Amino acid sequence: MMANGRGAVITGWGIALPETVVTNSDLEARLDTSDDWITERTGIKERRVGGTTAGLAIEAGAAALEKARRDGADIDQLVLATTTPDRQMPATASVVQAGLGTHGGAIDINAACSGFVYGLVHAHGLIAVGAERVLLIGAETLSRITDWSDRNTAILFADGAGAVVLEAVDGPGQLLGWDLGSDGSAAELLFAEIGGFMRMEGREVFRRAVRATVDSSLRSMERAGVSPDDIALVVPHQANVRIIEAAGQRLGIPIERTATVLQSTGNTSAASIPLALVDALNGGRVQDGDLVLLVGFGAGMTWASAVVRWRSHPAVGTSS
Ligand code: ACO
Repeated sequence: MMANGRGAVITGWGIALPETVVTNSDLEARLDTSDDWITERTGIKERRVGGTTAGLAIEAGAAALEKARRDGADIDQLVLATTTPDRQMPATASVVQAGLGTHGGAIDINAACSGFVYGLVHAHGLIAVGAERVLLIGAETLSRITDWSDRNTAILFADGAGAVVLEAVDGPGQLLGWDLGSDGSAAELLFAEIGGFMRMEGREVFRRAVRATVDSSLRSMERAGVSPDDIALVVPHQANVRIIEAAGQRLGIPIERTATVLQSTGNTSAASIPLALVDALNGGRVQDGDLVLLVGFGAGMTWASAVVRWRSHPAVGTSS
């Protein structure tokens, strides 16, 4: 499952976060919990809530287009990864398409917190069969499906969006290896009925998340023909710093080579990996030629990983 034929590179990136900040102290005031417990068990200190999925997606998408020096009209496919569409139908991607003026198809995909990496692989597929430029966005308003009286979930989930522009290149692109997976027999561990709140068996999700992150990462690296020592930066799903540390330990990749933003964003599902990626790019943590491992897991359960070799595009230069 290596990338074949016509490749793609990321040429622009951007994020959007709602203005309202909810700190652990705010939660302490409403729930039987504490800042110490949340910090120690999850690493999260604060999170952002508010807005709509389409609104956040448009803002992040516009920022990514600007960075790529493109207009909406230059895009010929839009892929929106989300678990929290604004309406049952139409797809939230249609609203985003109109907002940004993109051409061609527009589709929502739902693979929960694995959605952005699923979308990345699908975007490469679209480019391999002829698309020129794909706008890929992960956007969520999980606060709308969070039961704010349930301390098991209210401390974790939040809102935000991150986006990248992918452009076709002649020959191989950035994607060196990838892995997508699903085990629907675990669907009851984390779910929300239509119109309902998320329910989660946290301990079991935790256990499986570490395993899925490690196994999927190893598969992607094997397909890319690289080893953990070669990885300059891991960009994991931002669910819980203890999951990230446990998986990193098993992979032999230290936290210093890992992107984390969950301290200030909480778990934003499909938006979490692009939020962490953009933070690392803007922080100058990724150089030309670096190998970056993106890896996520989520409700389904689903998991997804990809190894990309970062390379700047002539239009945008390196990471700043
Ligand atoms: N504040 C204080 N105490 C709490 C809280 C809280 N918010 N939540 C639970 N507790 C208590 C429990 O009741 C329990 O008490 P007991 O020992 O008296 O029974 C104790 O703390 C320990 O509870 P655990 O559930 O064992 O705590 P754990 O260390 O597993 O942490 C957590 C819970 C943070 C939910 C963790 O299991 C986790 O992160 N799981 C993975 C969740 C995840 O990643 N979900 C997203 C998947 S991605 C997606 O698709 C959206």
